[in-house]
Amino acid sequence: MATMRAIQVAAKGEPMTLVEIPIPQPGKGQVLLKVEACGICHGDSKVIEGAASSYPRIPGHEVVGIVDKLGEEVSQWKVGQRVGIGWHGGHGHTTALTTDGGYAEYMVAYEDGLIAIPDEITAEEAAPLLCAGETTFSALHNSSARPGDLVAISGVGGLGHLAIQYAKKAGYEVVAISRGKDKEQLARELGAHHYIDSEKENAAETLQALGGAKVILATAPNADVISSLMGGLGTGGELIIAAVDDNPLKWSAMDFLNGPNTVKGTFTDIKEMEAAVRFSILTNVRPMIEVFPLERAKEAYEKMMAAKTHFRAVLRMEK
Ligand SMILES: NC(=O)c1ccc[n+]([C@@H]2O[C@H](COP(=O)([O-])OP(=O)(O)OC[C@H]3O[C@@H](n4cnc5c(N)ncnc54)[C@H](OP(=O)(O)O)[C@@H]3O)[C@@H](O)[C@H]2O)c1
Ligand SMILES: [Zn+2]
Repeated sequence: MATMRAIQVAAKGEPMTLVEIPIPQPGKGQVLLKVEACGICHGDSKVIEGAASSYPRIPGHEVVGIVDKLGEEVSQWKVGQRVGIGWHGGHGHTTALTTDGGYAEYMVAYEDGLIAIPDEITAEEAAPLLCAGETTFSALHNSSARPGDLVAISGVGGLGHLAIQYAKKAGYEVVAISRGKDKEQLARELGAHHYIDSEKENAAETLQALGGAKVILATAPNADVISSLMGGLGTGGELIIAAVDDNPLKWSAMDFLNGPNTVKGTFTDIKEMEAAVRFSILTNVRPMIEVFPLERAKEAYEKMMAAKTHFRAVLRMEK
């Protein structure tokens, strides 16, 4: 039986390990992908920390690969086509929570979770667009910000560094908010007009001094940080929460009435994946990536969790 290398979480609470297991076979409505690249998203912490529906489970939900084999009744895809899949696994499934993900040489995917990936972009650069890119693109695209408005991005990681680029390309006045000075130069190169070091300044006060933000996109996963951003909104401003933190948020009614302000969440949406990839190609937005081989997935994940990656770690499979 043909085998593949994969990074697997064997059971809830177990660490990720490199395993050699049989190549899975596609069932009805599924295709087998030969994985080319898989981004490492903060959202991978769900499966790695025990939230998958069952184990063993393979993490990874920013996957680009080549269709290698078709299951029964697959109508949309052909062998040899380049495709991608994000968090939404198709058919009521969530990639890497209810199905195995892309930290592997092969992966089975439902055909309705896939989009075509154009040739103009490499697999390593396309993979992060399928969650980090799509989430921030659609958050800004569906926001109330218009060209010229002040838009702040909190957290300069996988999502944040793409959000800065999308915001710049959309014609906003862009503010990057990050802890420390380390990321300032790169944030400015990515398109930030202003940089707030949240360890030195009160981000909300600095945003007010700049006129108040029309939109703040929260990608830093910390409830206190998210709560504090509300004070940076200008008239009719919108705080959009992409980041995940289980702790409660702290607001009073007055925080909403001053403005008046809106707080909303944004969730990755399969309907916007193609648009995010197309916009990225049209406007030359690309993730800044650090590429790792499959066997170094744990190291790459830990570097991301420590916010040390510039700015998205991507696993590249051997050809
Ligand atoms: N809503 C959705 O559909 C969706 C989709 C994908 C991801 N997410 C969530 O979005 C968040 C960001 O994901 P990501 O992949 O961009 O993660 P990431 O690459 O780790 O970036 C997050 C950034 O937030 C800042 N940060 C991290 N921990 C922090 C803390 N404890 N306090 C304050 N700031 C902190 C860091 O930026 P600085 O170093 O600049 O401070 C870090 O680089 C995660 O919670 C993830 O689960 C949501
Ligand atoms: Zn993700």
